[in-house]
Amino acid sequence: MKNASHQPAKRDSFASSFGVLVAMAGSAVGLGNLWRFPYLVGENGGAAFILIYLGFVILAGLPVMLAEFIIGRRGQASARGAFQKLAPGTHWGIVGVLGVICCVFIISFYSVVGGWCTEYLFKSVCFDFTEGDPENLKTLFSSFSSSVWLPILCHTIFLALTAGVVVAGVQNGIEKFSKVMMPLLFLIIIGIAIRSMTLPGSGPGLKFLFQPDWSKVTSQTFLAALGQAFFSLSLGSCMVVTYGSYVKKDANIISLSSQTAVADTLFAIIAGCAIMPAVFAFGISPGEGPDLVFVTLPHIFSQMPLGGVIAIFFFVALLLAALTSSISMLEVVVAFCIEEFKMKRKAAVVVSFVFIWILGCLCSLSMGPLSNWKILGKTIFDLFDFISADFLMLIGGLLIVIFAGWKLGKAVVFDELTNGGTHPVPAWLLKTILFLIRFVAPAALLAIAIFQIHE
Ligand code: TRP
Repeated sequence: MKNASHQPAKRDSFASSFGVLVAMAGSAVGLGNLWRFPYLVGENGGAAFILIYLGFVILAGLPVMLAEFIIGRRGQASARGAFQKLAPGTHWGIVGVLGVICCVFIISFYSVVGGWCTEYLFKSVCFDFTEGDPENLKTLFSSFSSSVWLPILCHTIFLALTAGVVVAGVQNGIEKFSKVMMPLLFLIIIGIAIRSMTLPGSGPGLKFLFQPDWSKVTSQTFLAALGQAFFSLSLGSCMVVTYGSYVKKDANIISLSSQTAVADTLFAIIAGCAIMPAVFAFGISPGEGPDLVFVTLPHIFSQMPLGGVIAIFFFVALLLAALTSSISMLEVVVAFCIEEFKMKRKAAVVVSFVFIWILGCLCSLSMGPLSNWKILGKTIFDLFDFISADFLMLIGGLLIVIFAGWKLGKAVVFDELTNGGTHPVPAWLLKTILFLIRFVAPAALLAIAIFQIHE
């Protein structure tokens, strides 16, 4: 879209509230929902974990999301710029820079996994899992992921797809893409869940997910729940600050945030219903992460009536979930380059692409030829995961709530939550949100950060 002639370049923005919601949900719903949540639920006492998780979403997740929205919409700038504008002459902009760095790290390994999803989608279209012996599938996956060229090619394709959406802009790229893909993603996963829950012998899988078992709840459960809530809602990395800066002044950020959290949690639970009943129906013990998705599930698809088709749908869903998340991470980096280095969107996308592509190649190679390169005892892939998810997101989240709650303060927070007084919000709700932003969320984040360092 052309800008009005003599005005300074107008910021891109989302066209509708539904657009914001699907873009936010797109960012939140990702690999975290499909390959971690179901497993964590099962391992940590089923419904007991879900309840603790919901508690953290409300007590820590929502306050951080609201704080990011407030900073982004009020600052009307990307990650660093928003802090800088709201607190000129201070060093708060560093929080934005940390967010950008965090997104660069996450997208580097995320894109490698996105590449694997692309390859497995291709394999499923070719009905490659029909020889579904688990040992074969395990060897197939490990020889693929540790090889040199094919994973790098797949990572390149995935990152190029992400860049293709981001280069089209917020309204014409991200919003349009999410509007079509998110409903499709929900439909596919609901379809698979129905298939999975109607398999004979699916009962134990549902029990694994939903039977509350408080005896499995330990301090580790609380940590896992808070970490997962944070990762799954894409918090602490200025993603919501960046998207928030594209949100109109009259949008209701309280309901947008709650709807995003509901959509993300609902998706995670449906994903659990799609995966676990099938895993148990075939008498397999569920694992976590890559093996669950790239070894166990292909094995199950090969055994299941109609499994070949379900496999295609599943990998389409996985790819879409990963794409809508990586788009949001790339947008954080691109918006930063556009505003800080005065680049055109296209140039910013190219520069970010090249930089992230190189880091992604290192992550990919660290599964194979570079597996001996270790820093802090971790391969590059694991190191990036650790620095971003276990460290930068938590520190970022903590600084973000402190900034919104204490530096911007009550008047600004209330002003943003009520859209300058034009949108009535009950006083008790405003006060509760402020209390959560000022005290509860920082306490929870500090506790988990200290615990992580201790470990
Ligand atoms: N929420 C995404 C998922 O569940 C991953 C994610 C973590 C993310 N941090 C992010 C996405 C920051 C965008 C921005 O898979």
